[in-house]
Amino acid sequence: MSRYWSATVRSLTPYVPGEQPKLPNLVKLNTNENPYGPSPRVLAALRAEVGDMLRLYPDPNCDRLKEAIAAFHRLEPAQVFVGNGSDEVLAHVFLGLLKHEHPVLFPDISYSFYPVYCRLYGIEYRQVPLTESFEIRVDDYLRPNGGIVFPNPNAPTGRPLALAEIERLLRASTGSAVVVDEAYVDFGTESVVGLIARHPQLLVVRTLSKSHSLAGLRVGYALGQVELIEGLNRVKDSFNSYPLDRLAISGAAAAIEDRAHFEENCAKVIATRTRLVSELGSLGFEVLPSTANFVFARHRGHRGADLAARLRERSIIVRHFSKPPRIEPFLRITVGTDAQCAALISALRAIVA
Ligand SMILES: Cc1ncc(COP(=O)(O)O)c(C=O)c1O
Repeated sequence: MSRYWSATVRSLTPYVPGEQPKLPNLVKLNTNENPYGPSPRVLAALRAEVGDMLRLYPDPNCDRLKEAIAAFHRLEPAQVFVGNGSDEVLAHVFLGLLKHEHPVLFPDISYSFYPVYCRLYGIEYRQVPLTESFEIRVDDYLRPNGGIVFPNPNAPTGRPLALAEIERLLRASTGSAVVVDEAYVDFGTESVVGLIARHPQLLVVRTLSKSHSLAGLRVGYALGQVELIEGLNRVKDSFNSYPLDRLAISGAAAAIEDRAHFEENCAKVIATRTRLVSELGSLGFEVLPSTANFVFARHRGHRGADLAARLRERSIIVRHFSKPPRIEPFLRITVGTDAQCAALISALRAIVA
């Protein structure tokens, strides 16, 4: 605490990202990264970008990347907003679209950055409890609000909300923005991008950190009708004109254009997830149905914190949340390679035996 801090800084409770340990030989299943590398076309694009041109600023509009993203989703480039990771995109969304008279609504168990943005920007919010089975119930959101935001599938539960239910929400809630955070959608959830044309209040947020294996490049984007995107551009151009550098623009465009590599990696993760869920089940874990690249699992006989600590002793790291108390028994486990998941299962077998 310094006397030079503003009142805003004093009141913040910053988000704590999952650990990025510097230790070698870890089985790292704690931050939902992709266990497989990015497309070779990304690496070639990055190398081509390293040179004299780096003395020049990048394109502030990131046209090359917006065109690639628009073609991927069959939208117009003017319907695409890009940012330095979807965390930055979400920050602009909270300030630009979710700050209104009524509180913004999001699930009580969800991406823990949402309340952090609210506190940063002085946005009122209400956390809507998930059901007993950790599901989002649309009817709970049908009340006056300054916007609605949730991940689909939800994080850290991994549970998806059906497309028809999201459409029901969109039909009933037209007065404020509805933001669907599709960070994990490519691992088996139906996307709502196809609903954008019919719903002017819908904004879809995506990232290249998970399904495109580019967490290290920091690229995220949002899709919506042009008016919503223009609002985000106004925030971005009041904050940082060049959120993506030349390498990020070029590498991200190459990743989006290599659809085959992306599809192959997603399919491998999904196949491993199926095996992981069944093996966790045979060790006595209850695993919530997941359509993400992670699973959320608890064991009747063991506390979540103890399991995480004992895995750590064996150089395996997973994510554990002590709050809210309802999710204390759970571990959030990223789906790794088959070999990483086999190491996890054999460690857990020894721990819970
Ligand atoms: C639900 C959700 N949204 C957004 C993000 C942010 O991703 P990034 O900033 O890497 O694009 C994450 C990261 O884990 C996430 O879990």
